[in-house]
Amino acid sequence: MKKIVTLLSVLLIAATPFAAQATPDDDLKAFRAYFTKKFPDVPVNDFINGVYAVDPASREQWEQFEEFPSYQIAIDNGEEKFNKKFANGKSYADCFPNYKKGIKQNYPYFDTDKGEVVTLEGAINKCRTDNGEKPLKWQKGEITEIGAYLAYLSRGHKINVKVPNDAKAIAAYNRGKKHFYSKRGQLNMACADCHYYYSGSRIRADILSPALGHTSGFPVYRNKWAGMGTLHRRYGGCNKQVRAKPFKPQSDEYKALEYFETYMGNGLEINGPSQRK
Ligand code: HEC
Repeated sequence: MKKIVTLLSVLLIAATPFAAQATPDDDLKAFRAYFTKKFPDVPVNDFINGVYAVDPASREQWEQFEEFPSYQIAIDNGEEKFNKKFANGKSYADCFPNYKKGIKQNYPYFDTDKGEVVTLEGAINKCRTDNGEKPLKWQKGEITEIGAYLAYLSRGHKINVKVPNDAKAIAAYNRGKKHFYSKRGQLNMACADCHYYYSGSRIRADILSPALGHTSGFPVYRNKWAGMGTLHRRYGGCNKQVRAKPFKPQSDEYKALEYFETYMGNGLEINGPSQRK
């Protein structure tokens, strides 16, 4: 009997993320507490460094890479393209008047009038199409350069994503949360399996990063990509790893996932762009 009771309580604890009354703020507190307890030696803001926060062996090499980072060129290109005028004489600065102060920490946000999550990439392309320019491709190339420049200007600002008291905003947040904890693909694994329960453990050649602060360093230059990629590019790769069909970049599903994951990182600093294996 005792065994059954223990098992039951384990199941109940595992189920708490879905407790009906849990607000985003409750989730955030529990999420952060889980990781700070699991990795007591990692200062909380260090979780913005992904796997390098929990893998001292690869951290040293990563720090060397960061001294002459491969993303530097993306920042420089991004600055140049950001400042280039559109054909109508306007520029990105007209869409993002506060860009110099750093704006990335406020993305994604929920647009209550439109009833949708707005990501920084989405806002970049909306700026273009509103000004008669063609939208950029979503996952790599120019959008990561503009994104790298804006992230760079936002470094050190604390992530400050809000879930307004709006039924659709809460639904989007819960959709992202559900994606994070749901098993999928032929391997039947959830984001949470790798980046929550098994974070810090090894899978094949990799140590798994904790999901806390996951979005802070994007866009990233990945050696494996030999180039830059957005967060949604990474999401697609992680869905594929478990042999699940990836969603489209900037689909409502990935926007919701980004909304949830970024909200979980509230209070940690933006550290994009960054370098990854
Ligand atoms: C089978 C295990 C596995 C699953 C499931 C998985 N990932 Fe990953 N993920 C990895 C590995 C391995 C890496 C590279 C090492 C690292 O940074 O954790 C990675 C990296 C990432 C990164 C980059 C972190 C950084 O700092 O650069 C993000 C973000 C991410 N995953 C999100 C997700 C999300 C969201 C899901 C669910 C859709 C998911 N992953 C599912 C294995 C997994």
